[in-house]
Amino acid sequence: MRAFVWLVTLACLAGAQHQALIDYLERRLLAIEDRVSLWHEQTNRYAAELRELKQQMVAQLDNLDKEKEALRANLDGVGARVERVEREMDYMETQHGAQPCVDVDDKLVEQQVTQVKENNKGRYSRLSDCSEMISSIKAMKIVKKLGGAKGMWTKDVGGDSGKVYVLNGTDQGTVYEFSSLQEFTGSPDVSLARSLNLPSVWKGTGHLVYDHHLYYVGEQLTVVKYDLRNSSRADSAVFLAGDHVPAYGLSPETVVDLAADEDGLWVIHATRQNSPHISLAKMDAETLDLEQTWDTACPTENAEAAFVICGTLYVVYNSAQPGRSRVQCVFDVSGVVSGEEAPLIYFPKRYGTHSSLKYNPREQLLYAWDDGYQILYRLLMKQKLEV
Ligand SMILES: *[C@@H]1O[C@H](CO)[C@@H](O)[C@H](O)[C@H]1NC(C)=O
Ligand SMILES: *[C@@H]1O[C@H](CO)[C@@H](O)[C@H](O)[C@H]1NC(C)=O
Repeated sequence: MRAFVWLVTLACLAGAQHQALIDYLERRLLAIEDRVSLWHEQTNRYAAELRELKQQMVAQLDNLDKEKEALRANLDGVGARVERVEREMDYMETQHGAQPCVDVDDKLVEQQVTQVKENNKGRYSRLSDCSEMISSIKAMKIVKKLGGAKGMWTKDVGGDSGKVYVLNGTDQGTVYEFSSLQEFTGSPDVSLARSLNLPSVWKGTGHLVYDHHLYYVGEQLTVVKYDLRNSSRADSAVFLAGDHVPAYGLSPETVVDLAADEDGLWVIHATRQNSPHISLAKMDAETLDLEQTWDTACPTENAEAAFVICGTLYVVYNSAQPGRSRVQCVFDVSGVVSGEEAPLIYFPKRYGTHSSLKYNPREQLLYAWDDGYQILYRLLMKQKLEV
């Protein structure tokens, strides 16, 4: 009996202990469950917050992108304005000549003229075996601000009259003739100039003044040779308009461009056969006949102007948004200068576009028209063979 009671007590004790253990475990489980659900809740909250944050970030990044774009556009605008102001200041300085650097620049032009007179003899004897190429652009001078965004100005590059001619715009018929560079820079507008009314309207900026004659490209790609001394039409020739595309992608008004170098006249154009590349032809100044033609590998795309020096064509490229103009393709009819050895030549400092670039072989100057400003570039030359 005693033993039985002992046994029951033991069993009861064991049962109670068991129950306590179960209770204990249940409590632990409940606690764990609580923590798990709390953790779940927190993760959900964190995930939600994270999502929200991400959305906010994306929105802000979008905003930032937009703001960056706006800022860049603003900067571009400001850059262009600064350029304009700079150019305006350069021009004002040339007008009032207070700055010593401008005096030096003025001397540069004057020196150039006298130097050319001294050089003339030597130059003529070397004319046939001219063998120079551009080494760099040594100096620039903003000479004047006259006329619209596009146009062409030049001296008579074949004669020694020293007269300056201005052909403002890309489709007009009045040439302004100034008796000298000094008169041109001193004239407030075109009132000091002699006005010449041409027999027809010109197209583009491909004109040339050579040995008392204006050569201009009119409608239907007619090249007119016009005698400036007695204001009469001396001759004309016609290019087949259907055969041609504009030579310069960035100056589509100029389908055919005329150039002069030490050896005479050249035609820079783009035929349908050699498109999208530029072609070059040698033109007889007397008869306007094409003596010889070459197809170059210089693309018309992004070309803004070109000129010829010693039988080498230099094509100047830019971008649709005016940037730094640069000579980036050359073609030498004598084959001495190859594209690889020609230096990449940047025009100094300016961010602009050249609607015309005319080389004067007597002065080794480029006459440029940049957004209504008339600019001179002085070239530094070297022998073609010494590369
Ligand atoms: C130059 O041409 C532009 C149009 O291209 C014209 O507005 C301007 O009056 C012209 N200036 C002169 C001096 O002929
Ligand atoms: C204009 O002058 C040139 C050279 O002096 C001459 O050959 C030409 O016949 C003249 N033209 C006219 C129409 O007088």
